[in-house]
Amino acid sequence: MNLIIVTGSSKGLGLSLCKRLLKSGYKVVGISRTKSEDFSKLQREYTSQLFYKEYDFNDIKGIQTLVKEIKKEYGDIYGLVNNAAIGHDGILGTMHERQISELIRVNIEAPIILTKYISRLMLMKFKGRIINIGSIIGSTGFSGLSVYGATKASIEGFTKSLARELGKANITVNTIAPGYMETTMTSGLGGDKLEAIKRRSPLGHLVTVDDVAGSVIFLLSDDAKNITGTTITVDAGSTS
Ligand SMILES: NC(=O)c1ccc[n+]([C@@H]2O[C@H](COP(=O)([O-])OP(=O)(O)OC[C@H]3O[C@@H](n4cnc5c(N)ncnc54)[C@H](OP(=O)(O)O)[C@@H]3O)[C@@H](O)[C@H]2O)c1
Repeated sequence: MNLIIVTGSSKGLGLSLCKRLLKSGYKVVGISRTKSEDFSKLQREYTSQLFYKEYDFNDIKGIQTLVKEIKKEYGDIYGLVNNAAIGHDGILGTMHERQISELIRVNIEAPIILTKYISRLMLMKFKGRIINIGSIIGSTGFSGLSVYGATKASIEGFTKSLARELGKANITVNTIAPGYMETTMTSGLGGDKLEAIKRRSPLGHLVTVDDVAGSVIFLLSDDAKNITGTTITVDAGSTS
C-alpha cells in the first residue's frame, strides 16, 4: 500500500483529499496543528490506513525530525501533498510584519523544507510524486492577497526547477492551482464578491474541494507518470 503524506489534513481540501486517498486504497499520514473531529471520525473508519501527526509548520527546525519519525513509524513515502497553508488577507501597507513572515514561513518555507527531507528518501527509492497546492491567485492576482499570492507564485517556481532536479530519479513534481473553493480559508468572502467569482466561470459555478482532490488522485496515478513540472488549473474556467 503506497504511503501519501498530506499536510493540512484537518479540514477543507486536505480532509477531502484524505477521504479520496483512503477510498483509492492508499495509506495516509495527515499532518495539521489540530486533529479535527472529522479527521478522527475518518480514522475510526480506516483504522489501519489513516494516521496522524500533530505539527505546526511555523516550526521549521523540527521538520527534519518529523520526517524521520514518519519514516520510522510508517515506512517508505510514495507521495507528498503540500497542501497546508494560511490565507491572511489585508492591504500590504497596513499588514503586520508578523503576518507577512508567517505567510512566507507556512506557505513556502515549510513546504520547501518538508520536500527537502522527503525527496531525499524518495531519491533512495527511485520513485515518488510531489504535488504542491498553489492557487490561481499566484498568477491572476487579487486585491488584498499580495503576500498570499507571492507565496503561491513561489510554489509554482519551486515546482518547475525541482521537477528538473528530480526527474532523473523518476520523481514527478507538479502544482495544482485551484480556483475559489468554499472552505474555512475563504469563509470571510460572501455576497456580491462570491457572486462575481461565480459569474467569471464559463461553467457558472465554483469548484469544490472534491474536484481538486480528484486531480491529486490523478497525479498520483500511473496515468500521470509522464506529467512533471507543470500546473494543473482546476477553476471551472475562471481564468480562461
Ligand atoms: N479555499 C480556496 O478557495 C483555495 C483556492 C486556491 C488554493 N487554495 C489552497 O488550497 C489549500 C487548502 O486550502 P483550504 O481552503 O482547504 O484551507 P483550510 O480549510 O483553511 O485548511 C488549511 C489546512 O492547513 C492546515 N494548516 C494551516 N496552518 C498550519 C500550520 N501552521 N501548521 C500545520 N498545518 C496548518 C490547517 O490545519 P490546522 O488549522 O488544524 O493546523 C488545515 O488543515 C491551501 O494551500 C490553499 O492555499 C485554497
